[in-house]
Amino acid sequence: MDFQWNGEYHQKFITNVGLISSNGKHGPNMMAAEWTYLTSYSPAMILISVGPTKATAENINETKKFGVSLAAEDQGWICSIAGGHTGKSTDKIAALSELGVTFTEGKHTGMKLVNGAALHAECEVVEVVHQGDHTLYIGKVIDAQTFDAKPIALHGGKYWMMTTHAPHTNAEEREKRSAIVEKHKK
Ligand SMILES: Cc1cc2nc3c(=O)[nH]c(=O)nc-3n(C[C@H](O)[C@H](O)[C@H](O)COP(=O)(O)O)c2cc1C
Repeated sequence: MDFQWNGEYHQKFITNVGLISSNGKHGPNMMAAEWTYLTSYSPAMILISVGPTKATAENINETKKFGVSLAAEDQGWICSIAGGHTGKSTDKIAALSELGVTFTEGKHTGMKLVNGAALHAECEVVEVVHQGDHTLYIGKVIDAQTFDAKPIALHGGKYWMMTTHAPHTNAEEREKRSAIVEKHKK
């Protein structure tokens, strides 16, 4: 079966938004990627899933490197610009700079990393998987930094701030559940 973009199935997912920087035939570029996942701790790996016709995919195919800036709560508008135009016809880095966004150049890759983001990572592609209508780029993290900013969440086609914990059941309920799980230990 197929899921429609922003349809009822897609809308049930909650993700980060990665601002993915790349360089190559389309020059320095940045796109928004809700499909930005930490998939391994040691070594740290970040997987991104990118449409194969995007400027970002064509850049990464050439250089095998990408940068990740996990967008912060106040950076939804940056995601919308990076995700709403293609680097094939718009210099998004120049546009974002004129709009007041500042960048730090990655020490190892020279990738533009967005100041004010929750996390910066520089990645080297170790595996490319063509699946469905997107291409998975698995990147080994060669350097990363975190900052005092909370990541923005994407859900139901809207940006969200993570402000409240989900309700937790009381101690008595937790004990009852633990006892039942214990009973089923193999
Ligand atoms: C919030 C948001 C999340 C997105 N997530 C993805 C994604 O995970 N993968 C993808 O291929 N495109 C994603 N897109 C769409 C791309 O960012 C968009 O097609 C962009 O124009 C591609 O830029 P490029 O051609 O310069 O690489 C997203 C867009 C937005 C606004």
